[in-house]
Order: sequence, then C-alpha cells, then structure tokens
Amino acid sequence: MPRDLIPPWTPDSWREKPNGQAVPYPDGAALAESAQRLRSLPPLVTSWEIERLRREIAEAQEGRRFILQGGDCAETLAECRPEVIANKLKILLQMSLVLVHGSKKPVTRVGRFAGQYAKPRSSPVERREVDGREVELPSYFGDVYNGSAFDAASRRPDPWLMVRAYEHSAMTLNFIRALTEGGFADLHHPEYWDLRFFHHAGLSPALKAEYERMTRTLADGLRFMEALGERTVDDLSRVEFFTSHEGLNLEYESAQTRTVPRREGHYLLTTHLPWIGERTRDPEGAHVEFFRGVRNPVGVKIGPAAAIDHVLRVIDRLNPDNEAGKMVLITRMGAERAAGVLPAMVEVVRRAGRRVLWSCDPMHGNGIKTAGGIKTRSFDAILRELETTHGVLASCGAHLGGVHFELTGEDVTECVGGASGVSEQDLTQNYASLCDPRLNYQQALEMAFLLARRMSADRGGA
Ligand code: PEP
Ligand code: CO
Repeated sequence: MPRDLIPPWTPDSWREKPNGQAVPYPDGAALAESAQRLRSLPPLVTSWEIERLRREIAEAQEGRRFILQGGDCAETLAECRPEVIANKLKILLQMSLVLVHGSKKPVTRVGRFAGQYAKPRSSPVERREVDGREVELPSYFGDVYNGSAFDAASRRPDPWLMVRAYEHSAMTLNFIRALTEGGFADLHHPEYWDLRFFHHAGLSPALKAEYERMTRTLADGLRFMEALGERTVDDLSRVEFFTSHEGLNLEYESAQTRTVPRREGHYLLTTHLPWIGERTRDPEGAHVEFFRGVRNPVGVKIGPAAAIDHVLRVIDRLNPDNEAGKMVLITRMGAERAAGVLPAMVEVVRRAGRRVLWSCDPMHGNGIKTAGGIKTRSFDAILRELETTHGVLASCGAHLGGVHFELTGEDVTECVGGASGVSEQDLTQNYASLCDPRLNYQQALEMAFLLARRMSADRGGA
C-alpha cells in the first residue's frame, strides 16, 4: 500500500486490526484497571539502551558483530529464582565468549528471559479427559495471561497477571543488572565452566582434543574482545545484557509504550527487542501494526510456509525507511526445509536492498514427538539447520548475523543428542519445560563450540 494511504499509527491503532491470537479477557473493567496500573509504573528498560542495541544490530547487519539470543520457551512466575536466573545468564555469557573466540567479533547477548511470559497457541481451547468426561478449557497462553493447571479458575485469563508478569520481569532484570555489574567476574575463569562432559566416551578423540584446545585458548577470545573495543577483561564483570520476548500480548505491550523526553517517537519499554511470532506476522494484522510504530528493533519469525512477497511486505511495514538496526529476520525453517526455501528469500531481500539481520532459530522447525508422545528436538537437527542456514546465507552474498536458541542453564533432559548423550529414554528424568524442549547447559555450550568452529573455519582459522 502506498505510504500516504496507510492510516496513522497510535499505540492503540492495532485494536482495529485482525488478531488471531487475541485472548478474550472476560472482565473488561479489570483489564482497563490493570492496563492503567501498568501505564503508571516505571519502565523496565530505557530508550538509550534500546538505541544502543539498535546500533549493535546495525553493526551485526554489516557483519561486524554477532547477536546471540537465548532462553526459555516460556518463563514462569514460579521459576523466578536466583539460581535459575544466574544459570541462564552464565550459559549465555559462556556461549558468547566461545563465539567471540570463533568469530573474532564482539557478540551481543540478548536473553529470551525477563519477560518471556506469553505463548501463542494453535488452538484457543484445550480438551482433556477428567474423571471420565471430556473437559474443554481455554488453552494456557503463558503466565502473563492465565495459569497452566488444567482447571477452570487457573485457565481463566486474568488481566492482573500482566502486572505480576511485569513485576517478575522487573525482579529478574534487577538481579541480572546487579550480577552484570559485578558479581560475575569469575565467568572467564575456565574452572568455573562445567566441561566435564566433554570427556564423555561418545566423542571422537579429535573432537575432544579440539574442544580442549578451544577452551585453553579462550583467553585469546577475551583479548580479541578488548582489541575490538569491548570492555577490558577486568571490566568483563560488567557485561552488557539485553532482554527480549515475544510481543504477543498487545494489551501489555501497549500499556508500557511511551514517548520519552528529548527523543522522537514511541518506545516500547517492557523489553529491548520484541519479536513477532510465526503465527502473528500477518502484514495487515494487529501485531505488525503495533510494532511498526515503536523505535525498538523488532524480530520477525519466518517459517517455511512464508510467502516471499509477504516477508517483503512485513519488512516494508515495519521499516519503511530501511533504517539500520531495526529489522531482525529470525528464520526457523527446519533442518530439512532450509536449503530449499531460504535461497530465494535471501536473494529477494538482498535484491530489494532491505537492511535486515539474518538470525537463525534452529529450534522451532525441528520439533518431533517420541513414540511415547514426548515433545523433543534433536541436537543433530538443530545443528544441521544452523549449518545449512549459515551456508545458504554465505552463498547468497549475505551472512548469518545471529542465532536464537531455546535453552536453559539447568541440567534438564528435553532435547536428545549432543556429547552429553541424552537419549529418548532419558527424557523423563528431568523434563521441566511447560512448552517447548530446551537445550540444557551442556548441549547449549557444545552448540556454541560447534558454531564457533564453523565461524573460525570461515575465517580460514583452524
Ligand atoms: C517461540 O519462539 O516460542 C515460538 C512459538 O516460535 P514461532 O513463533 O517461531 O513458532
Ligand atoms: Co518455543
């Protein structure tokens, strides 16, 4: 649509657009009251942090930086605990150091936590058999909307959960900010890393030797970070951290969207980097309408069924002026589909001259169910999608500028494979995710090592 025909944006213009994931709050008065409360509370992030992330994404778009995004599929209010938060931060930091080492580029860390409380669903209702009869209740849409327990009271969408989610995001961020200011100095000491699993019998001696060499030379990576103008090693305790979540609940997001003094435009202040999910990226829909009006960088998930002209329209809507640092395309094609689908898409975006960051989410296209009905993903498929995406982008004159993982710092058994050897039989040992299966600490770190190896090979390194 020509630009002068697009109606003006306001923080509420999304309300006029179709929203396939709208959750009907039964109590309109309570919704208005809780939104009003949210509007009155201080922001979770600031406009200058958002502008800084935009500059870093712009650098990554030019191939001078890499963006590592990772965290839970769905955070829960109950898991807002110090050790869980610290472990997630730790794995993200360790992965970033491994990637710095492999790529010799600065790496920006973006948590998929401190606000990841909303989940899109394929069906608005869930049916289960309870005491011999079938019961239908609203689906669980994440802790910002309703509770996961299968009973009518928990599943009723409660607008005050928006305020609780905001509070838990604030508590999480507060702890992260404190840790990154000083408490994490040990991170770059290898003894703090749990690398015992690399001695697992399943690894070839060559791979084992390579991991050991990479760990020993991580200090190189730290020196490079300094050389590249990142903070000094001593200063590494004050690492930079950004937060991201799926911008699904527009009642929540619009209530924290504001203008700020001395800057133009509106900022969404619940998060630095919101993303639009695979189910809500309709160029004419409510989510694209809302996010076209905020200054934040915006991610968009792109699955294998996305039409190329649809992707271009989304980009045009969200970033009509082709500004640097604004658009992150997060492809999630699946290991089998990526090679077939991606090249044409990358080519069209490149020929259109659109500035985007290509990031790969190798998780959401690779879900499988075991014979016993457990949702899992295989380490090999995840790695294969990453490698295929990386290769396709390079051969199309673009580059992989970021990755997006579902992971946790805990020792869960949700994804199969990797050097630590989680098998299908192990899945029930510690399956904690309420939603999608995540890489555990060891799988996440190994994934970073393998990606770093690929990046190092690209540079002609060993
Ligand atoms: C997610 O990131 O948890 C998700 C639901 O992804 P997608 O929108 O890509 O399916
Ligand atoms: Co998920």
